[in-house]
Amino acid sequence: MIHLKSAQEIRIMDRANRIVLEVLDALEAALAPGLPLRELDRMAAALCAERGGRPAFKGYHGYPASVCVSVNDEVVHGIPADRRLATGDLVSLDFGVLYEGYYGDAARTCCVGEPDADARRLLAVTRESLLRGIAQARPGNRVSDISHAVQSWVEAHGFSVVRDYVGHGIGRALHEEPQVPNFGEPGRGQRLQPGMVLAIEPMVNEGTADVSVDGDGWTVRTADGRRSAHFEYSVAVTPADPLVLGVGAA
Ligand code: MF3
Ligand code: CO
Repeated sequence: MIHLKSAQEIRIMDRANRIVLEVLDALEAALAPGLPLRELDRMAAALCAERGGRPAFKGYHGYPASVCVSVNDEVVHGIPADRRLATGDLVSLDFGVLYEGYYGDAARTCCVGEPDADARRLLAVTRESLLRGIAQARPGNRVSDISHAVQSWVEAHGFSVVRDYVGHGIGRALHEEPQVPNFGEPGRGQRLQPGMVLAIEPMVNEGTADVSVDGDGWTVRTADGRRSAHFEYSVAVTPADPLVLGVGAA
């Protein structure tokens, strides 16, 4: 069952996602060679608390940290611990908050220092695939119109989309229906309606789409050891243009 949100609920979710984006901005600004990942986790927890939110991922199915930090061949759900950043690392930061009863969720991949040409292209293509997916989040379209827009952009540029993890509805729960895959034929799945809020989150690999999970039970990494990128926004479907939560003035 899909929970449609009222305008008032969407306002709260906008504020929740504002917190998420402010935390991501601060983490991105802190990235530097030598920084231990644990420090990013400490910052995320502190910045979130200052803003009246609670980190959404900590304790979720036992996940042990406040922010997911996934480096280079790690795709998602990396656990920030003792590892230190190095120049040229691609760092995916995924953060969620619970604020006034509603969840916010967003992610981005950043480079420590200047990205090489291949990395720059991976980041640009992944981010643009998210924007193209978001542009399909309109009443009358179906869920897989988002999926298809993401996949076709990614594959046209020679990269692959991860299939084992998908985007999702979001609201009073972190994960609500519907699932939002990053691949598929257009015109399938639920018809989109005003009030739906979707976390759209392409995970894009340089090489194979195949992934494996580490012995820690969380860290997802590419099967071929090549790099991966991840961008996510929470997006409200409205009668007019899609509303990317947390980015506007409110
Ligand atoms: N953005 C991811 C998601 O929506 C993060 C979940 S990580 C977990 O699924 F640790 F909470 F599982
Ligand atoms: Co998500």
